Amino acid sequence: MSIIVVVGNKGGTGKTTLALNLAAGLLPGGPVVVIDADPQQSAYQWRLVGGDRPGLPAVVAAAHGLEQTITALRETHRHVIVDCPPSIKAPQTEAALRLAEHALIPVQPSPMDLWATTHIARTLERVRPENPSLRAMIVMSQIEPRTTLSRLMPEAAAELDLPVASTALRRRSIHRHCVLEGRTVFQAGRRGSEAAAEIQSLIAEIFADD
Ligand SMILES: Nc1ncnc2c1ncn2[C@@H]1O[C@H](COP(=O)(O)OP(=O)(O)O)[C@@H](O)[C@H]1O
Ligand SMILES: [Mg+2]
Repeated sequence: MSIIVVVGNKGGTGKTTLALNLAAGLLPGGPVVVIDADPQQSAYQWRLVGGDRPGLPAVVAAAHGLEQTITALRETHRHVIVDCPPSIKAPQTEAALRLAEHALIPVQPSPMDLWATTHIARTLERVRPENPSLRAMIVMSQIEPRTTLSRLMPEAAAELDLPVASTALRRRSIHRHCVLEGRTVFQAGRRGSEAAAEIQSLIAEIFADD
């Protein structure tokens, strides 16, 4: 049983994409639900597009009453994944962080985005007295290995107060195609296999110490 929250201070970093693909990657191990805590409801919309396609996780929209929703769903699911709004100060984000075992923070390869994670580290410190076992990790997202910036990111990230996952998620067009079709990369066959392998590797890292 685990509660994983995907948080961040900006839109467009890849939170929803990570939440949904993580859920699909964990699904073979038992029931998984994604709670869409973002009032924009992109995860929920994506799930509507997916319809009854096999291999998709359940998605529940819960921008309000989040704590009760998490507490209820953790009883019946092996993993509860919370897709948070793009603000670390949002009440949903703080509520989810108080209950979670794992927090993932996708960050795009930009120095400014990295610097912005300082605020996230502070929020994590604030909830830590209530939730001392919370483990947080930055996940490099939408990396383009051929660009200098992406190459410099691991070095820059090493300066931060938060650990950085050694699995980085590359920018791959299959992720955008999958959204259109209501799939995750796990339903995209060979076209999605490299992206799916990245997600599996991240899953192994998340649970490495459990
Ligand atoms: N690894 C990736 N490669 C390519 N496109 C991505 C990747 N991750 C996310 N995207 C795209 O970037 C946009 C923002 O992603 P999204 O998951 O909605 O971010 P957030 O939830 O943080 O706002 C979407 O169009 C999504 O398809
Ligand atoms: Mg989102």
